[in-house]
Amino acid sequence: MNKIVIAIDGWSSCGKSTMARQLARLLNYIFIDSGAMYRAITLFFIRNHIAIEKVDEVEKALQDIHLEFKLNSTTLNNEIWMNGENVDTLIRDIKVAERVSEVAALAQVRDFAVAQQRLIGAQKGIVMDGRDIGSVVFPEAELKIFMTADPEIRVTRRLKELQAKDPSITVEEVRKNLATRDHIDSTRAISPLRQPEDAIVLDNSNLTPDQQLDLALTWAKERIGLH
Ligand code: C5P
Repeated sequence: MNKIVIAIDGWSSCGKSTMARQLARLLNYIFIDSGAMYRAITLFFIRNHIAIEKVDEVEKALQDIHLEFKLNSTTLNNEIWMNGENVDTLIRDIKVAERVSEVAALAQVRDFAVAQQRLIGAQKGIVMDGRDIGSVVFPEAELKIFMTADPEIRVTRRLKELQAKDPSITVEEVRKNLATRDHIDSTRAISPLRQPEDAIVLDNSNLTPDQQLDLALTWAKERIGLH
């Protein structure tokens, strides 16, 4: 069967990863959460007190980071491992979220992550979500979806998710984090978040998860040549 690359980009907390994961499962494709790579790198930098303004220190740190996605046979999710440790849960912490956008803005970090993303995508049959997947990583992707949603709806969704793990998280913390990340991600010099011209915009403010998945699946089947 004709295998394609599906790029899903958009603002923080639009539900990109959830939809991308479900879409990949329905198509029997690989799902890669590119944000997880930037979050894992950030976790390494936090743990090892890497000074991000020091180019040498950043380069040396990246040489010590080995990232892998491994299938969890119970949940059937592809989880991220760093240097032999499953960090899939740890990287969702707000402490990582607070630092990730400044780390992801560094040229060496982007080169490191993008090279691995392209390698994984070379085989096609992949759904990857992030900020620059359709614009930079896979400009030739057969299907590009740009996800957006009302900012307050995004705050409410992310708050619910984070409070399930840590009830002390406040709405102000989450609102500030999303606004800061959106700002840094869309204004950074290298690969800023942009809506590719050939992307389909999916505003899910008023859509249920099933409704948006149905739309994405229809678009994917059209591109694959299945009707
Ligand atoms: O998707 P997620 O919110 O987990 O991504 C975390 C952060 O990683 C984003 O806010 C952004 O700074 C960075 N990122 C990126 N490029 C990507 C994916 C994520 O810069 N392709």
